[in-house]
Amino acid sequence: MSQLFSPITLRGLTLRNRTVVAPMCQYSAQDGFANDWHFAHLGRFAIGGFGLVILEATAVVAEGRISYADLGLWKDEQIAPFARIVDFLHSQGAAAGIQLAHAGRKAATPVPWRNGFDETDAEKAALHFESWTPVAPSAVIHAEGKNFTAPEALDEAGIRNVIDAFVASAIRADKAGFDTVEIHAAHGYLLNQFLSPLANKRTDQYGGSRENRMRLLLEVVDAVRAVWPEDKPLVVRLSITDWHPEGWSVEDSVALTRELKTRGVDAIDASSGGFEGAVVPVGPEYQVALATAVRKEGGLPSMAVGLLGDVLRAEAIVADGHADFIALARGALDEPNWPVHARHALGAEDYSLWPKQTARVRERDRALGHRHFKTA
Ligand SMILES: Cc1cc2nc3c(=O)[nH]c(=O)nc-3n(C[C@H](O)[C@H](O)[C@H](O)COP(=O)(O)O)c2cc1C
Repeated sequence: MSQLFSPITLRGLTLRNRTVVAPMCQYSAQDGFANDWHFAHLGRFAIGGFGLVILEATAVVAEGRISYADLGLWKDEQIAPFARIVDFLHSQGAAAGIQLAHAGRKAATPVPWRNGFDETDAEKAALHFESWTPVAPSAVIHAEGKNFTAPEALDEAGIRNVIDAFVASAIRADKAGFDTVEIHAAHGYLLNQFLSPLANKRTDQYGGSRENRMRLLLEVVDAVRAVWPEDKPLVVRLSITDWHPEGWSVEDSVALTRELKTRGVDAIDASSGGFEGAVVPVGPEYQVALATAVRKEGGLPSMAVGLLGDVLRAEAIVADGHADFIALARGALDEPNWPVHARHALGAEDYSLWPKQTARVRERDRALGHRHFKTA
């Protein structure tokens, strides 16, 4: 019996299996609104059998977008196209999550496949182009010469606005029908900027000691948990380590995870990195040990992510207790049917994870001697 394909329950949400699509920016929105690209892109993962599909970094305020083409949930009008996507994911048996985000000093960057800000005036009008000055814990640019903008430091009122914006967006996410919210506190974006001494140079109660640097994330979590329905799980994505000698460490993440647990967070999505000067040991499964650390020492279920995809290894990571979920990003783009295929590779002979409209794959498999019909 596969562990990867056994259901798991967090609060009132039962996922059909432990496979997750990690959030992936599509840089394809206008004024924050989801459109047919998002519908088709996300829908195919539900058709492919994933247990949970987490929507990309979705900005809680317009100035919190990584680029002008990010999704947003800063106004009520943005709810309806999300609800359409959520309804479709549900119709296919997948749960729907949304990553709520603020990019902080990494906001207002170009769409990655463009050559900087090279939009013509006509494209700017058509694409709803916008540019703005980002905000951050401290007025320190992320990196020089790389299309980042020098940010303004948030004052106390600005910090209060950020917390309120996470709350308002979480309420809208609930109205859209999402089953879970993932708070983005990773990859060097705003909440991660507050956590890390690499970006947080404040001298007030939000800077200095680890306790102070954790304050904003904990306030966001408390405020969101207070409005997010009791029966719906709350996930936090952390950069478990900055991979930098002067940065945030695994030990810091373990301490933070323990705090998050007491405040009603249900799982940690264990990523890493996001600041300049990091030395990242990129390779297969390079972040699994980080998911294991917060699971075993921090005491919360964890999601492993990053260069996963080998089916037997994915099964072993879950079965051996290294992580509770296996999240794929690029692997899902490459193979949206990864779960239905992986389930067969782990021995399933029925086609129950395939949507009924695709059930004739079985006839093809029998005729060609594929999967368990193989005789030789
Ligand atoms: C196209 C693309 C967009 C991404 N956008 C986000 C995002 O919106 N939020 C986030 O936390 N991570 C984002 N990531 C990181 C992924 O969620 C994931 O952590 C990373 O790609 C490693 O997983 P993988 O090896 O399966 O791709 C993105 C990655 C890709 C490839």
